[in-house]
Amino acid sequence: MLGTNKSIFRRLIISYMLTIVVGIGIVGALMFYFANSYIYKTKQEELLRQGRTVNANIQETNIINEEKQDTLQFLDHSFDARLWVFNADGKIIATSTKDEVSIGKSVASSIVEKVIRGENAVNRLAFEGLTEPMLSVVVPWGKEDEVYGGIILHSPLIGLNTFVGKIRETILWAALFGILFSAAMVSYLSWTISRPLQQIDRAAAKVAMGNYVERIHLKSEDEIGDLANTINMMATKLEKTDFERQRIDTIRSDFLANISHELRTPLTSMQGFLEALQDGLIEEEGRKRYYDVMYDETIHMNRLVDDLMDLIKLENKDITLTKYLIDPLPILEKEKFKFEREASEKNVSINLITKEPLPKAYTDPVRFEQIINNILKNAVKFTEEGEITIVAEEDGQYLLLSVKDSGIGISELDLDLIWERFYKVDRGRSRKNKGTGLGLAIVKKLVELHEGKITVESQIGKGTTFKIWIPSFVE
Ligand SMILES: Nc1ncnc2c1ncn2[C@@H]1O[C@H](COP(=O)(O)OP(=O)(O)OP(=O)(O)O)[C@@H](O)[C@H]1O
Ligand SMILES: [Mg+2]
Repeated sequence: MLGTNKSIFRRLIISYMLTIVVGIGIVGALMFYFANSYIYKTKQEELLRQGRTVNANIQETNIINEEKQDTLQFLDHSFDARLWVFNADGKIIATSTKDEVSIGKSVASSIVEKVIRGENAVNRLAFEGLTEPMLSVVVPWGKEDEVYGGIILHSPLIGLNTFVGKIRETILWAALFGILFSAAMVSYLSWTISRPLQQIDRAAAKVAMGNYVERIHLKSEDEIGDLANTINMMATKLEKTDFERQRIDTIRSDFLANISHELRTPLTSMQGFLEALQDGLIEEEGRKRYYDVMYDETIHMNRLVDDLMDLIKLENKDITLTKYLIDPLPILEKEKFKFEREASEKNVSINLITKEPLPKAYTDPVRFEQIINNILKNAVKFTEEGEITIVAEEDGQYLLLSVKDSGIGISELDLDLIWERFYKVDRGRSRKNKGTGLGLAIVKKLVELHEGKITVESQIGKGTTFKIWIPSFVE
């Protein structure tokens, strides 16, 4: 992470420095250029004006006498410009300083020609050994209608170097200040970028380690804030997935534990009986009873395995119903008949009431019978006296079956749970209930597969009513 920080810092500082250096460089160059040309221009105009003044003082004749020499000297001082006067041949005939060695030397013919034509000439000179650059101008010497030669004025460009120095100094200071300021800005910027990034990095690492409750708390509403939100969303998703995975794991291991438990109970009892038989301790007459019990246990185990297979198939939707419209009455009568004997042993009567017009049921007859069987079996099992009433009637587009018993009832707390597989109320005490707790789970799945509905109402000690709606229309 520190690497990122450094890299952001490096990139920012390089771009800031480049911007500052290029910007200040351009501004400096422009300032220098304009100042330079301004200084030259004003100096040049001043010199030309002074040149004309010099000419006005010496334009009477084309001879430089003692008096004019003095004038030249005077003007040199007052203008601070060296003055040379040359004739029409280009020969220098007088200078403003007495010790001048230039007298007799020739001036470039191009300049002479220009001056004779009455034009001015300007020349920029930089002499070695001189700190200031020099500017020379040449103006015609003479009258308007008669040019004798030319007057050259040399003058140092005083102040130019100082001015350039000043500009350079200003630019350096500006650059220094800019660099310091931008370094501070860059530090601050890279800190504001890298600090939340570090926060995100830490949180993401925790999520990667499996800590899905970790969230990033950032208030920024920029791209980094968006990134944090996305990662938070991802963590939430992972948290949910993980929770679901754990839930499924728990269900699976509970399921396996329940199966083992349900299988072990009959197996243990059979093992005990077999050991007793092996020891030969049981009299001939008693053996028959042992065999019967063991046979019952195998039947129970078989049923458990069948139910389990059924439920697993239903839960995996690995079952196809062969549905068609059937008359429910024969099946209801058959189921009633099946349980009548067992019920009458307990003094419980089973009544079947059908209300006209009795609709048909759009169902798989085998599964329809399985639903009635499971519900009726429960009613008989949990009713000690009284009666069980089955009512079949029409309810809209459904066949409504109500199975009402006067049995032990189910408490409100248990009412929601009876649909869970392996769930039995009073699991510990009810030795009489040899069921596995799969019946209602299967019923519920089957009714759902039919796109029907099942509800239960119950009161402890009074009885229970199951209501089942099975579609009577073809989809
Ligand atoms: N008519 C009822 N009256 C009272 N309690 C009931 C009734 N029907 C179901 N129960 C309660 O709901 C539990 C779950 O019923 P379910 O049919 O799923 O299992 P079971 O009958 O115990 O076993 P199985 O049906 O697998 O043989 C029962 O153990 C019982 O406690
Ligand atoms: Mg049951």
